[in-house]
Amino acid sequence: MSKLQSSIASHRFGCSNQQVSVIGQGTWMLEDSAPTAVAALQRGIDLGLTHIDTAEMYGSGAAERLVGMAIKGRRQQVFLVSKVLPGNASRRNTLQACEDSLQRLGTDYLDCYLLHWRGRIKLTETLGAFESLQQQGKIRSYGVSNFDVDDLDEVLSIVGPGKLACNQVLYHVQERAIEHEVIPWCQRNDVAVVAYSPLGHGNFPARSGKGGNVLEQLAAKYAVTSYQIALAFVCRLPELFAIPKSLNPAHVAANAAAAALQLAAEDIAAIDQAFPRGVKPRSLPTI
Ligand SMILES: NC(=O)c1ccc[n+]([C@@H]2O[C@H](COP(=O)([O-])OP(=O)(O)OC[C@H]3O[C@@H](n4cnc5c(N)ncnc54)[C@H](OP(=O)(O)O)[C@@H]3O)[C@@H](O)[C@H]2O)c1
Repeated sequence: MSKLQSSIASHRFGCSNQQVSVIGQGTWMLEDSAPTAVAALQRGIDLGLTHIDTAEMYGSGAAERLVGMAIKGRRQQVFLVSKVLPGNASRRNTLQACEDSLQRLGTDYLDCYLLHWRGRIKLTETLGAFESLQQQGKIRSYGVSNFDVDDLDEVLSIVGPGKLACNQVLYHVQERAIEHEVIPWCQRNDVAVVAYSPLGHGNFPARSGKGGNVLEQLAAKYAVTSYQIALAFVCRLPELFAIPKSLNPAHVAANAAAAALQLAAEDIAAIDQAFPRGVKPRSLPTI
């Protein structure tokens, strides 16, 4: 098992057997602020936010180029994840999409490669390409994103146990649908759950609301911010990881510090009550 250099909490990333920082860094919509974005990502890596999430979709490759700049000369320090678009997920096009991502990122391997969401192309095509890429050493592990349990069952029936490293899904205090079935499925099958938009994609609970007020009270109790409390809640189980995005160095530092925050059971229960999980929706929520 390799351990990435990290000064913050790390957990085993599903069956990949890699130790990965519990809190990482997202890169969606970074490309509009290029120099700031590179500096923020580098600051995050310095602080141990070494799990970097990107995708060929983000800025049509621009985000991957920025990540490439940020990790130049320090590739070994990061756990690098990118994603293939469903429209590119045929066997042949997945192989090409991965080559293109590697080139933009300035590296010769990804730590994990994901199918961004399920499209019309058969999973056997995409997963076959992932297997080939893994055998060639171009990806160290693979996973999926936005997959509900029926799709996860199908992946398992194709690749068998011990192959799928993660499922990256929408998860934050105000959106807890994955707690019904997706998290238990992943726990049973040794699959890491990566929470995307863990701070609500800019729609954070208002202080004046009931839930926001509970977060504020807990922030005062732990002498942190309500955003840090929200991240600690999202990462409260060993199978859970989060990839908040920030262009602000102070926020990046706060996100790194949140990895060390352990909420008491009574405080997790208070958040649980303040942001009810609700009934299981018909389909998995996405952003
Ligand atoms: N697989 C998928 O389909 C999918 C979908 C969506 C997202 N993602 C991934 O998940 C990543 C994160 O999600 P996201 O970008 O949607 O949103 P997010 O991380 O939930 O929220 C980002 C917002 O939170 C603010 N923020 C971050 N840290 C903060 C802190 N400590 N205190 C206060 N504000 C803070 C940021 O502003 P500042 O810049 O000012 O800090 C930004 O406005 C994406 O970048 C992407 O990599 C994946």
